[in-house]
Amino acid sequence: MRHITQQENTFLLSTAHTAMLLQITKYGHVELLHYGMPVSIEDAAALAARRTMPYGSQVMYTEEDPTYCLDNIPLLWSGAGKGDFRISPIELELPDGTITTDFIYDGCTLRAGTLPAVGLPAAYDESGEAETLVLSLREKKFALRLEIIFTVFPAADAITRRTVLYNDETVPITVRSLMSQQIDFPQREYEMLTLDGDWISETHVHTRSVQPGRLVNESTTGFSSNRHNPGVILLEQGTGENTGLAYGFNLLYSGSHYTAVERSPRDFVRIVSGIQPQGFCWRLPAGEIFRAPEAVMTFSNEGMNGLSGNFHRFVRQHILHGNWKEKPRPVLLNNWEAYFFDFTEAKLLSLAKQAKAVGVELFVLDDGWFGERNSDTAGLGDYTVNRKKLPGGIEGLAQKITTMGLRFGLWFEPESVNLESELYRTHPEWALQQPGRQPSMGRHQLLLDLTRPEVRDYIVHHITHLLDHCPITYVKWDMNRNITEIGSATLPANRQQELPHRYMLGLYSILERLVTAFPDVLFEGCAGGGGRFDAGMLYYFPQYWTSDDTDAIERLYIQHGTSLVMPACTMGAHVSAVPNHQVHRTTPLQTRGHIAMAGQFGYEMDLGKLSEEETELVRQQIRQYKEIRSTIHFGDLYRLRSPFEGENTAWEYVSADLKQIVLIYCTIHAHVITGMTQIRFEGLKENAQYRNTETGEIYDGDFLMNVGLYLSDSKDYATKLMTFELC
Ligand code: GLA
Repeated sequence: MRHITQQENTFLLSTAHTAMLLQITKYGHVELLHYGMPVSIEDAAALAARRTMPYGSQVMYTEEDPTYCLDNIPLLWSGAGKGDFRISPIELELPDGTITTDFIYDGCTLRAGTLPAVGLPAAYDESGEAETLVLSLREKKFALRLEIIFTVFPAADAITRRTVLYNDETVPITVRSLMSQQIDFPQREYEMLTLDGDWISETHVHTRSVQPGRLVNESTTGFSSNRHNPGVILLEQGTGENTGLAYGFNLLYSGSHYTAVERSPRDFVRIVSGIQPQGFCWRLPAGEIFRAPEAVMTFSNEGMNGLSGNFHRFVRQHILHGNWKEKPRPVLLNNWEAYFFDFTEAKLLSLAKQAKAVGVELFVLDDGWFGERNSDTAGLGDYTVNRKKLPGGIEGLAQKITTMGLRFGLWFEPESVNLESELYRTHPEWALQQPGRQPSMGRHQLLLDLTRPEVRDYIVHHITHLLDHCPITYVKWDMNRNITEIGSATLPANRQQELPHRYMLGLYSILERLVTAFPDVLFEGCAGGGGRFDAGMLYYFPQYWTSDDTDAIERLYIQHGTSLVMPACTMGAHVSAVPNHQVHRTTPLQTRGHIAMAGQFGYEMDLGKLSEEETELVRQQIRQYKEIRSTIHFGDLYRLRSPFEGENTAWEYVSADLKQIVLIYCTIHAHVITGMTQIRFEGLKENAQYRNTETGEIYDGDFLMNVGLYLSDSKDYATKLMTFELC
């Protein structure tokens, strides 16, 4: 073991630039001695020597030890009802009706590699570097066991953990809450950063100081949601983009989530995250196991850029799967904002021809190709092709498009059903509903009950049939409503509250079947934009439609926020028509192109409406993007200017070999007087020179980093995209 060391009851988990030191206390609790900058296992004694004061009115774990108060120990796992009054990571209804739990250490195993999860997405490793520590805990009174499974991913500076609960009792228990992770930091001042929003305004950055009490980042919509992304960052006071200490937490889970940050009376800061406990209740029969989803944490002393770099490496190397993981993804044209539901095969073919002529690589047919789907009120759930629109079916269209030299992609919304559909008329019981209660509608649709095997088979069968019979190389998997009136006829009354999580398990099993069967198909997730853009989904879908808001300026905020936790190669970003459909703003085509190039680039407009000059610009944009996409997707990102903090935005991308630099700069509001912004680069090679590929000018790397360039802010919504090459 190179990255996990054990000395008796002390464990050191090390990554390239971070360390976590934990120790089993003499009473068997798992104490966190340190998480952050590298330390050695020998530092444990110094770090453990901090419990010195008796604690007045507080509850002692044992009379014999006046300094051992659970409320004041930084723990990696706590229980309920034993004097730790901070938020508990676990709440069980035990056989005697109580909820008190005291899980104590019962042994460990260390192993090379990861420990695959059952039924849930989990980080994997191909580098041969990952190591796993399983801490086994047992409840002091009842026959319950808990495993905390830590895996260290050294190069990504990430540590994952998950919790597994075994009911060894002879009777069932009830799990009211089982968090994926808990960590306590000793007295420190923090700010909590979250990514919040709504439909068409996802991942806006908010920070607030962690004061005594609890701050919660959660979703209750049934999905990870566009309201509050599960990614949460804790910043030490004064931390910025390039300096300072930052801790990041995320969940590999796509259902309702919950993260609480609590500052205790003695200023310890606890953070727990996991499945949203509200509306959740899991009956765990004797002999059965409950597995909480995986959480990931990372730390950087290089500010938020350092932290998001860790997240990006982790997602790219240990979450994204399959043949598209590290491949440059195709430039696409999606017909949605061009025609919405109003298309014919002739219109699509003409659009595809224009797309091919400017260099697009993938043509995507969005919503409206099946059943009675001429608006969003009907057709979802049906897979019969609308022959009025597409006389040759999907197969005929896909063949024609493929013959043009384009890839072909297709939109699906498999989890939903319109009441106006063949599927609903035949199988109303397949929709999630509560008998006797009027269902609330979201976008005129209900969700299917993915806990039913026959529903899962129906979805897999129809998609498989299409993928088997048509040359489809890309699937856009959409989902457009939140969960309400959640009820399933297949579950007894005392198990209905398991349904939200069982829905996710059903979805994951469908996705596992499909992505395994079709490793060459590129899947892009979507939930009305970024309504389920989380690390759990990215395990199946290497890219995600970041937002239905395609306005370039709005996208600055959304993409900037998303980039704190997700790499550019996962973020779908398209150029659309002006005035923009969502905000009616008009921005230059150049600006729309530059900002969309910061993600998975594509167009979503009627190219036939462009002037010759604009068509030529589109051709140039695609050519330029193909030259820089590897750097943007797989290089390091430095956010140099934030739209949340000023009037302009600057994102710098440095290729892994430091040979190519891309700078995307946007002025949101111009100022006549100041009119210039100094941009200092980050992460360049020192003692090396870089050439501006457009102007030929040569700069020292140190000059660009220490002095930088002055960029003009003379026009609203104007952008620059500059590329530099190592001389
Ligand atoms: C959702 C998606 C859009 C588009 C429409 C089609 O809103 O986010 O990109 O696919 O559905 O109905």
